[in-house]
Amino acid sequence: MRVKEILKSAEIQSTITVEGWVKTKRELKAFSFIEISDGSTMNGIQVIIDKDLEDYDNIVKQLNTGASVTAEGLVVESPGKGQRIELQASAVTVHGGADPETYPLQKKRHSFEFLRTIGHLRSKTNTLGAVMRIRNACATAIHQFFQDKGFIWAHTPIITASDCEGAGEMFAVTNFDIANPKRDDKGAIDYAEDFFGRPSYLTVSGQLEAEVMAMSFKDVYTFGPTFRAENSNTSRHLAEFWMVEPEMAFCDIIGDQDLAEEFLRYVFKYVIETCPDDMEFFNKRIDKTVLETANNIIDNEFERITYTEAIALLEKSSKKFEFPVEWGIDMQSEHERYLAEELFKKPLIVTNYPKDIKAFYMRLNDDDKTVAAMDVLAPKIGEIIGGSQREERLDVLERRIKEMDIEADDLWWYLDLRRFGSVPHAGFGLGFERLVQFMTGMANIRDVIPFPRTPLNAEF
Ligand code: 4AD
Ligand code: MG
Repeated sequence: MRVKEILKSAEIQSTITVEGWVKTKRELKAFSFIEISDGSTMNGIQVIIDKDLEDYDNIVKQLNTGASVTAEGLVVESPGKGQRIELQASAVTVHGGADPETYPLQKKRHSFEFLRTIGHLRSKTNTLGAVMRIRNACATAIHQFFQDKGFIWAHTPIITASDCEGAGEMFAVTNFDIANPKRDDKGAIDYAEDFFGRPSYLTVSGQLEAEVMAMSFKDVYTFGPTFRAENSNTSRHLAEFWMVEPEMAFCDIIGDQDLAEEFLRYVFKYVIETCPDDMEFFNKRIDKTVLETANNIIDNEFERITYTEAIALLEKSSKKFEFPVEWGIDMQSEHERYLAEELFKKPLIVTNYPKDIKAFYMRLNDDDKTVAAMDVLAPKIGEIIGGSQREERLDVLERRIKEMDIEADDLWWYLDLRRFGSVPHAGFGLGFERLVQFMTGMANIRDVIPFPRTPLNAEF
């Protein structure tokens, strides 16, 4: 039985076995208390070890914070406050000790910066434990949401030749000896001799392949890792992050926004209902507005405005921005946060961005200046979702590819989708870690993924 289940439903006077790690130990004259936790829930189970237990001194000496243990015993009502039951141990096995002189997790509270230096141990702490459980619940909710709607989960490739976002922020994949790659007659690197016979990269987005799948299955979604070699050392950027990308045929930019809103609402509701203890913890210890935010999302509609309206609102504001505002700029996170956090105080969807700051695949609007893009901006986070209606008209798409100096030959298969059974379609990408940040109030994205990949950091 896991600790969560024991705390909830183990019967008084039943005999049970619990396996886990010692969180705390208190030695008294006649007996000792330990709290055992196994990651299933925030709270550990209290175990009482009587002095009569065989080999008591030796066992208790080893039961330091961090030691792994199996305890068997009788479930009794707990006289202590805050817990229903406790365990009276009849047998205790210590599997691996943890020397208090060297085990780093002794204090009750450590800074998140320090915990990042011990990435192999930090998920044993209360906060990181709660984060990982919420992360798991978010992932479950996401699959449940799309599966209930009949979407097909499409597994798009991690290795690809195309730069979906066109930002040139891709990590190269090669099996060349990089100190000594094969070269052609002119001395240039000869990619024809490389593993894939061409330059290839880790994907920045599964969208283009999701579009392929949507043209067969109508509604699909991807949920996988994506990689960006952007050198942004911010609290919202990772070099490796997970993205959820639904793609829907027979759908326009309005349907896309409707889905994004329904989707976020569903995930928040699911997490609040299934992880009340962890959410309570975040609300108390990390960010006092977390539950209010969640309920706000569940109960209220998102604001929807155009990019042009957003720029006008920013220009009207008396707030001093570091980056100047004018029509045509790529909004910075200070702008996005002002709109979501201060002005509307809830998530908002901004649509119809200038074509020059968006990717080649977005559908050109009739004004010839803007594209049918939509970003969902969230308080504290800024952009959490980026999406669009896709350009389904072959001639317009070809023109845009040319204008943007993209190699059309590489996209022959993508253009084929516009030749054979093309249809209006739309989709979006949710940054999974940004969602977990939004949900938990965690300030730094490095603390909502087990093993963060950021510039100069890939150790664990
Ligand atoms: O806005 P982006 O770049 O959109 C796309 O990649 C589209 N192909 C999605 C689609 O339409 N299918 O990225 C989508 C989201 C962002 O809104 C943000 O939440 C997250 O991915 N994101 C990052 N999260 C963490 N670290 C980074 N470096 C991120 N870059 C983007
Ligand atoms: Mg974006």
